[in-house]
Amino acid sequence: MAEIGNDIFKAKELLEQGKLVAIPTETVYGLAGNALDSSSVAKIFEVKNRPYFDPLIVHVPDIDSVSKYAEEIPAKAKLLMNEFWPGPITFLLTKKPIIPDLVTSGLDRVGIRCPHHSLTHELLKSLSFPLAAPSANPFGYVSPTTPQHVNDQLGDKIDYILDGGECNVGIESTIVGFENDETIVYRVGGLSVEKIELIVGDVKVQTQSVSNPHAPGQLQSHYAPRKILKVGNIQELLIQNKGKRIGILSFQKKYSGEEINQQIILSHSGDLKEAAQKLFSALRELDKSNVEIILTEEVPNIGLGRAINDRLNRAAVK
Ligand code: TXA
Ligand code: MG
Repeated sequence: MAEIGNDIFKAKELLEQGKLVAIPTETVYGLAGNALDSSSVAKIFEVKNRPYFDPLIVHVPDIDSVSKYAEEIPAKAKLLMNEFWPGPITFLLTKKPIIPDLVTSGLDRVGIRCPHHSLTHELLKSLSFPLAAPSANPFGYVSPTTPQHVNDQLGDKIDYILDGGECNVGIESTIVGFENDETIVYRVGGLSVEKIELIVGDVKVQTQSVSNPHAPGQLQSHYAPRKILKVGNIQELLIQNKGKRIGILSFQKKYSGEEINQQIILSHSGDLKEAAQKLFSALRELDKSNVEIILTEEVPNIGLGRAINDRLNRAAVK
């Protein structure tokens, strides 16, 4: 198992040696390596068992660093960075040659984000290179929101997990790009579309993609537990799945019935922020339990609810 601790200096040394370290962010834990070093980047793909066509996000300490890695920053990107960074929004920007092609899977754009977490901010500031970091989970599985989640699945493959506690947003960053002055959201996430629209006006949400995704977070099946998961009307799903050991993940309501083995309520008060924060831990807990099937329902499709529904629906595809 990996060592878990909050020694920034140790994390820095390992990263400088080309090794990988799991880092906390406000969204989910990342599996970090030197973004400017292809061999560190290659290790990230290996450890996650991630296909090389799925590009990585590059993490920077501040807005000023962006111009080292991106050719230009569109005016709308600048506005959004000023408003929301550090925070859960990633920008797809035309990359400079210093970013290895492996990071972007050969695409022209690189995803850049400045995470909001004090430990990771300190670490990024202390390094002479930015950090490539996908979520610290095996490819396709639910993202980790605690050091223990990372240790459970990747602990034997990495040396160190920087412990920054539980992630307080709990759902991955929102990914945006710009095409002909239009703002496009490729992945809904920890920053709501509504908040983005307040700053730059209407955006286009384009989170489905056919075969060659702009962002493989757009892949239909992703963020998925191993158990079968269904999204719908829980009452009806309960009838359809009679006789099975059932786990329920509901938004606000408690359901009753003999077949229910385990039930997790995301937010008793119906708070979407709380629901997002708990979502991945809850999915992991149900996945580890002895239930045969997980039944869930959509939450209100506004604010962070859109990202929650997006993840639930992708988790449901088998
Ligand atoms: O909140 C987050 O974004 C977390 C934390 C660790 O920062 N990271 C994260 O990374 O969720 P990952 O790799 O699990 O998901 C990033 C998504 C992938 O679906 C990837 O395809 C997309 O971002 N992406 C990254 N760079 C891209 C690029 N240049 N063009 C298109 N999509 C890109
Ligand atoms: Mg991921």
